Amino acid sequence: MKIFDPFAGYGTVGLVCRVYGYDYELWDLNPMIEIIHKSAILRKSDIKIQNLIELLEEIKKSQKQFIPKWSNLNYWFPEEFLPVLSKAWGFVHSLPENIKYFFLIPLLKTTRYFSFADEKVHKLYKSKYSRKKIKNLLKGNWETAFYKMLREEVFKLYNKICEYEKLKPKQVNFKIKSGIDTLETQLSSSARIHQIYKT
Ligand SMILES: C[S@@+](CC[C@H](N)C(=O)[O-])C[C@H]1O[C@@H](n2cnc3c(N)ncnc32)[C@H](O)[C@@H]1O
Repeated sequence: MKIFDPFAGYGTVGLVCRVYGYDYELWDLNPMIEIIHKSAILRKSDIKIQNLIELLEEIKKSQKQFIPKWSNLNYWFPEEFLPVLSKAWGFVHSLPENIKYFFLIPLLKTTRYFSFADEKVHKLYKSKYSRKKIKNLLKGNWETAFYKMLREEVFKLYNKICEYEKLKPKQVNFKIKSGIDTLETQLSSSARIHQIYKT
């Protein structure tokens, strides 16, 4: 049996399929599904905990830099944070694929917290709360707070991976399609598909 979720969101259906040993195909308009799913199916054995700790230290000293080409970067981030953010993203982008996914979502969450965006609101929104949050961060030792939050998020993800592994997920075949193309995509298999429709 192959399971198809055309509006897969975070890809929960795929994770459950692995537990039951079913092949699956996930689509979502939001390209983030690919990163979320790759992070969710990491294995504990992909990295030693000691390596995670070492990498979290290396980020602080990294010489690599990455700054997105956004015209409105200063609208979303205070200038003071940019060197630290650019170093962290430069470092994570330079990691090999299998290790990178231990850091991407944690760094994304941390970056969002250290931005003018209100992380309590689903859409990108600069609120009264988020302006106050940044003002308070800038008053204190925000750099230490940044690395502390990143470390906590990395270990939160690692613990979730360990928890998922206890459910003994199986090796199955799967496909993920994301982005605007899903509006015109045809299912890749002619096999009998049990479609899951959700409202
Ligand atoms: C309620 S969530 C899905 C939850 C998911 N099925 C689960 O089990 O966790 C709905 C998803 O549909 C996606 N979506 C909406 N319209 C779409 C379209 N035309 N094609 C693909 N995905 C779409 C949205 O990006 C959103 O992630």
